[in-house]
Amino acid sequence: MERKWWHEKVAYQIYPKSFYDTNGDGIGDLRGIIEKLPYLKELGIDIIWISPCYCSPLADQGYDISDYYNIDPRFGTMEDMDELIAEGKKYDIGIVMDLVVNHCSDEHEWFKKACEDPDGKYGKYFYIEDMKDGKVPCNWRSYFGGSVWEPLPGHPDKCYLHLFHKKQPDLNWENPEVREDIYTMINWWLEKGLAGFRIDAIINIKKALPWKDYPVDRPDGMSKAQNMLADAVGIGDFLGEMRDRCFKVYDAFSVGEVFNEKPEELPDFIGSDGYFSSMYDFGANIWGDSDKGWYDRTPISPDNYRDCSFAGQAKSEGVGFFSNIIENHDEPRGVSRYLPESDVNDTSKKALATMLFMLKGLPFIYQGQEIGMENVKFRSIDEVDDISTLDEYQVALNAGLSQEEALKVISLYSRDNARTPFQWTAGKNAGFTEGTPWLQLNPNYTEINLESQRNDPDSVYQYYRRLIALRKDPQYKETVVYGATTPLWTDRKNLMAFTRSSEGQTLLVAANFQSEPQTIVLDAPCKKVVLGNYPDVQANGTEVTLKGYQTVVLEL
Ligand code: GLC
Ligand code: CA
Repeated sequence: MERKWWHEKVAYQIYPKSFYDTNGDGIGDLRGIIEKLPYLKELGIDIIWISPCYCSPLADQGYDISDYYNIDPRFGTMEDMDELIAEGKKYDIGIVMDLVVNHCSDEHEWFKKACEDPDGKYGKYFYIEDMKDGKVPCNWRSYFGGSVWEPLPGHPDKCYLHLFHKKQPDLNWENPEVREDIYTMINWWLEKGLAGFRIDAIINIKKALPWKDYPVDRPDGMSKAQNMLADAVGIGDFLGEMRDRCFKVYDAFSVGEVFNEKPEELPDFIGSDGYFSSMYDFGANIWGDSDKGWYDRTPISPDNYRDCSFAGQAKSEGVGFFSNIIENHDEPRGVSRYLPESDVNDTSKKALATMLFMLKGLPFIYQGQEIGMENVKFRSIDEVDDISTLDEYQVALNAGLSQEEALKVISLYSRDNARTPFQWTAGKNAGFTEGTPWLQLNPNYTEINLESQRNDPDSVYQYYRRLIALRKDPQYKETVVYGATTPLWTDRKNLMAFTRSSEGQTLLVAANFQSEPQTIVLDAPCKKVVLGNYPDVQANGTEVTLKGYQTVVLEL
């Protein structure tokens, strides 16, 4: 595999609204990120991906952009962004922005002009269709519920397409002028010195045309958008063009948010001349999904997590580099999802972190993960802000769940679990803001916060630092970054174990995902304990007994 500058890095996702507020308005801002750069350096981060901070009505928290060339005043100014990029360089931290180009905001001037004159230039920037006998062109359901079609403001006889929220009209990628405008914008940002982009919802840019109905899969009479995507061919023409016109020119890092890719297309996406540098491995995130909605999801066990991770390793081996996550701003907290609720503690959190970091691929930490932040226990639906969660709550009620049951469901999966403010201290508002936080804090900040972990050598935070340091340790980095992954004992319960090996070096990675001990027998004696979450490792020749949630990295 051709080596790339970003392969050995560690990336960190910032959700700016909830990271750090410097002016007391309760909303995190770019100055807050600048202020925390030394912290991120201390942790060992090389790349920061910042969720959208462009001008936006924030209907979907910034994933609805009304001006791609400006920073929303709530987050700061373009000068702040320039300073952040420049300061980042001083710390050797590359800034990656979010590229949201499947759709823009209905408050973007393109859409406003399209409403003024649907037959003019900007009408062709979107998918605008005539209603026929009051009927919309097809039965696709939007990801956030309801039809993908919405009446075009000012033109009740017309409608426009939005795969996401109605305030997020889809851009028409079939129109070369749209693509030109997008490439110009991307290059304008790369010219500023960005390290690259995380590319939002990108699989959606290619629609299966002409419009047609797909099989109804819920009582609402509609069909999930994924059914249409399975039929859409030719996305590669767009993505290859974007790579050649933008990312390649700047040797930029690009990581795609890609769901529903066709398995045979993986080399096209992340192979040596792929459309993207990398894409997320969402195998574990989507495991257990149901067409019916969150309420019908199957909870994931540590064994399922293991199997998903290994499937991802096998798929990408010899092809390219996945980006690995246990959570992001669209997912619940990883420790609350992949560990049994009664067993969530510092030891088990470290075990999960070790699995994430020792898999092959680029590890991404989502803000707060490094201190072990957990899901929120919502007491009422009024505490929820996220549009997707509000929709899923309604879906659950419609399916006959009680309010209490529905609340339980959304507590498990709500995107707001990850969006509560970062827990810096045990003090007022967890040190996030002097004002009123835009979203309530997780009340557990008095126990889980950076301040209390920073000087504690046994903390989750310090353990993350050690994992990051291991990835960069000249003695091990070749194996940790490029070594082949070989799964071990995959039929054993509550055990995740594998080797990573490169020429002349083998590391065995194992975690016992239960509170009872279990013993593994190694092929070769252990030369050295490289890392672990217990002070010692109980070994008897090649027999190693792992205590409850014990994890080890052993050099064989
Ligand atoms: C991606 C984002 C998510 C957003 C959606 C629409 O999935 O990660 O937060 O709601 O795209 O832009
Ligand atoms: Ca602020």
